[in-house]
Amino acid sequence: MRFRSILRVSGSRAKSPFSSHSSSRFETKRPLSQLCTTNYERPSFGIAFDIDGVILRGRKPIGNSPLALRKLYDESGTLKIPFLFLTNGGGVPESKRALELSELLGVDILPSQVVQGHSPFKKLVKSFENELIVALGKGEPAKVMSEYGFKKVLSMDEYASYFDNIDPLAPYKVAPKDNITSNGSSPRYDVSSERVQAAFVVSDPVDWSRDIQVLCDILRTGGLPGKEIGHQPPLYFAADDLEYQAAFPSERLGMGAFRIALESIFNRIHPNALEYTSFGKPHPFVFKNAENILNQLQPFSRNNHVVHDENVVAHPLTRLYMIGDNPVVDIKGAQQAGHPWFSVLTRTGVFRGKENHEKYPADLVVDTVEDAVDYILDKEIISVHM
Ligand code: G3P
Ligand code: MG
Repeated sequence: MRFRSILRVSGSRAKSPFSSHSSSRFETKRPLSQLCTTNYERPSFGIAFDIDGVILRGRKPIGNSPLALRKLYDESGTLKIPFLFLTNGGGVPESKRALELSELLGVDILPSQVVQGHSPFKKLVKSFENELIVALGKGEPAKVMSEYGFKKVLSMDEYASYFDNIDPLAPYKVAPKDNITSNGSSPRYDVSSERVQAAFVVSDPVDWSRDIQVLCDILRTGGLPGKEIGHQPPLYFAADDLEYQAAFPSERLGMGAFRIALESIFNRIHPNALEYTSFGKPHPFVFKNAENILNQLQPFSRNNHVVHDENVVAHPLTRLYMIGDNPVVDIKGAQQAGHPWFSVLTRTGVFRGKENHEKYPADLVVDTVEDAVDYILDKEIISVHM
């Protein structure tokens, strides 16, 4: 056997249309063109790929991911199978991530195929469009928020630079940040009198000690560090992953770990418990949103562009696959979302078990993302021709 796979057979999901084919080799035996059997010329299924631990480790493709993705295009490079990336990571605008992924994976990824942990922050523009907000995390958190439409965004780096001595550890840090205001330009906002109205943790925080310190300052004082205690402004996290798979062999602490650290400290120094909202998988709305996007992706369009097409929404995809590495995030999320989601767990990231995960068993467990794609294509083509 080329790889070990486990198909979940207990509970209602045992009625999976795939179970009767579980003995077949998971290889695509027919061309993708055979999937085009409807008037709409598109298959009835779509795929959501987790990134860290499934497609990449750090910046390195894993599990034969470039080859796996190429199987979703025809020989001319035209997209045949609706798919998107559904990651709790982020830190750069979706358009930039799409370009990065295209380069790393060798296929033409469009911004509409990239859903990051912070993507739902767009929906909060109406509430904070013209308010001063602080955005933090690795990458370009302020750029992400500005592109979403927030008009008064400061990165944590810039915001902290406006306060002398706000981080007493800064002089001891290995590579102290360049003072953003040292080029002579005056602060863009008067942060001594203008309150921060909300804080957004856009991506994994880099300088935990500084970020926890300054967030506590902002949150305890109603948005005016150094001033008297005030009402806590809203705090949003893009995701709540305790750990995730990066380039290091064992898991790394994620945004959820940062949240726990911040919350523990805040609750010790402030009379009221920290209030916050977390986005990202496993929340059902993330899967609903992914479902809506997948339903609107129109493969086979001219110039390989994915476009919105009202007609196809009337014929929604009947099966959606979530391929993930983290049982408590990807698999739990797909299970909670229910029909039409089918969960596939790989062994290339957080999960490395021989059998299925005990608490959140996936519908299928395979070694790699390539195995997952082979399985899906094989089964879907068979079911079309039965
Ligand atoms: O920071 C990245 C992370 O928390 C998880 O990313 O792609 O595994 O959802 P992903
Ligand atoms: Mg992952």
